[in-house]
Amino acid sequence: MKQVVILMGAPGSGKGSQAKLFMGEKGFFHISTGDLLRAEVEKKTDFGQEIKSYIDNGALVPDSVILNIVESKIVANDKMLFDGFPRNIRQAEALEKIFEKNNIKDVFIVRLDVDDDIILERVVNRFQCAKCGAIYNSKSRPTKVKGVCDICGSEDFKFRQDDRLEVVKSRLDVYYKETAPVLDFYEKGGKHKVFGFDSTKDPSDLFVEIFEKLKI
Ligand code: AP5
Ligand code: MG
Repeated sequence: MKQVVILMGAPGSGKGSQAKLFMGEKGFFHISTGDLLRAEVEKKTDFGQEIKSYIDNGALVPDSVILNIVESKIVANDKMLFDGFPRNIRQAEALEKIFEKNNIKDVFIVRLDVDDDIILERVVNRFQCAKCGAIYNSKSRPTKVKGVCDICGSEDFKFRQDDRLEVVKSRLDVYYKETAPVLDFYEKGGKHKVFGFDSTKDPSDLFVEIFEKLKI
């Protein structure tokens, strides 16, 4: 039976960091619409350039683009973890239709809670391994050996264009306007269980707590 976990939370709440643990330790297939869009941008096509202009301004990419990307991934995988999707009510409604069409009933919503001031501090200090994608933070989660990825040993790191302070503030505004109502949609809709977590805890401890609560 197909199983879906949806990680919800503001930019910088720790969705990507938890997703890496879900993949590595529990074999979930990670569907991050942000990562998929950034991969498209790196191809430097006209389509990629169009996507880049939305991301760099902290705006949402049009729903039609996102839904095309997501549906192809859903059909192919059994244990899926969504990170950064759905991001508005239209996407959430479209996802319900995809669930119905594919007879997916085992759906868990994980809400990661962090205050905005912590988020701003986290995101502007984030960096990532350019080779394996491991996520670090120069203040709260540096590499064990300076300049060397803990996971794959690469010395190549990257920063996100949309992690500049003014863009992060816009992303937070978009989150409260467009994405927070999706949590209401799930909480009031009663179709899927919503589990809330304090995402200021150590990421590994938090991961264990999430699994104990979800019982999956
Ligand atoms: P996306 O890539 O989804 O970004 P986001 O939602 O803004 O979230 P982030 O990736 O910034 O943060 P995160 O929650 O993954 O946190 P992380 O684990 O890295 O989207 C980017 C853009 O793409 C959007 O703005 C939009 O333009 C477009 N887009 C994407 N999906 C879309 C959709 N469905 N529809 C339309 N447009 C879409 O952690 C952050 C930092 O905190 C790291 O440095 C990490 O080390 C640290 N950290 C994490 N957890 C902890 C912890 N527990 N304690 C201390 N530090 C921690
Ligand atoms: Mg992320």
